[in-house]
Amino acid sequence: MSVDPFWSSVRDNILLDPAQTYLNTGSYGIIPKAVFEELTELRRRMQQNPTDFLWRSINEPLWTARSRLAEYLRVDPRQLLLTVNVSIGINLAAWSLALASPGEIVLTDHEYGAMHYAWERAAVRQRLNLRVISLPYQLNDPGDVVEALLRELRPETRLLFLSHVYYTTGMVLPLKEICREARRRGVLTMIDGAHAPGMLPLHLDEIDADFYSANLHKWFLAPVGTGFLHVRPGLEDRLQPMHVSWGWHYDRNVSHERDIFGGTPWLRSHEFEGSRDPCPWLVLPSVIQFQEHIGIERARSRQLALGDLVRQRLDGLAGLKLTTPHATTLRGGLTAFRFPIGMTGPDVQAFRQRLWERHRIEINAVENPHGPFLRVSTHVYNTEAEIDRLANVLPATLRAVD
Ligand SMILES: Cc1ncc(COP(=O)(O)O)c(C=O)c1O
Repeated sequence: MSVDPFWSSVRDNILLDPAQTYLNTGSYGIIPKAVFEELTELRRRMQQNPTDFLWRSINEPLWTARSRLAEYLRVDPRQLLLTVNVSIGINLAAWSLALASPGEIVLTDHEYGAMHYAWERAAVRQRLNLRVISLPYQLNDPGDVVEALLRELRPETRLLFLSHVYYTTGMVLPLKEICREARRRGVLTMIDGAHAPGMLPLHLDEIDADFYSANLHKWFLAPVGTGFLHVRPGLEDRLQPMHVSWGWHYDRNVSHERDIFGGTPWLRSHEFEGSRDPCPWLVLPSVIQFQEHIGIERARSRQLALGDLVRQRLDGLAGLKLTTPHATTLRGGLTAFRFPIGMTGPDVQAFRQRLWERHRIEINAVENPHGPFLRVSTHVYNTEAEIDRLANVLPATLRAVD
């Protein structure tokens, strides 16, 4: 099967090991070769003289990286906290955000387990109720999804926590309408955008959530160690830094003015957590350049086209049942299937291990009270041949562990 030369060249320019079938960008993306080389060179320079690198050299590059990302996301760089990953971004808000009690925090039964725990602790600490609602992922009309979620808001709802793209089924939420209506009803919104950058056009000014955190190390193809938290202007004082460090005391009159550390005093109060490696953040301009070379609409079309092939080849195969919505507005690069009835957690792990050991195929199996789900990620560097390879070995692999 011939591959379009454009996509072949994209594949040639990333670090992927060609001997493997990597269908797990949903966990970690593969970075461009040029980004890897830049990162390695930065780390070499840092280790040659860490004092000079960390004290003097990174102010401007860090501000440039933040500004490029802010421009890409269409927000003010002064509201954009760089984090190591989305877990940190969400925890930063969940652990410190004061919400009026009595009241409730609402989330769905498809949120990432670790993030659910973060809100569980927040609710216990603040004597709030944590209400888990059922995500209507079988719906195919975005309007119905919005309505089903908004129906769950009550006068006592203080905060709504949702994923932009569900890690279980790959469903994409129409966030704009949800965030707008929640705000109108006095409910704060926090979005877990772990999978959105690089999968969807991401204009945070349009979504207009109160807090939006994401990973850049998955679909955006940045190195592990990159994420962000965007805080809507006016909400800065609702948060407390998770780590108290040198940024703790600062002049409130200049909270949002450029400082000599690549941010602002308010940003530094959250970001500075002691000595750390800033290099993954510094390569963000090159990552964005790679993303813009492809173009997000083109990337999305490619991901959807490969996703269509996954659906065609896997739905019904050996008892697998598609759980990702049909409407293209409600899906992206993740396609998920329910495993055949009767497969237990250990069977699923054995299946994944066997796929890897025998066939060097990397996919994920996601645990959830509704699951487990088989999850296939299709990114721009994947090929039709890889999907065929997976489909060809799936029935025998499932039989072997059942
Ligand atoms: C929806 C969702 N949220 C949060 C996370 C946590 O990501 P990280 O471990 O990079 O912080 C993941 C990871 O897969 C995820 O899928």
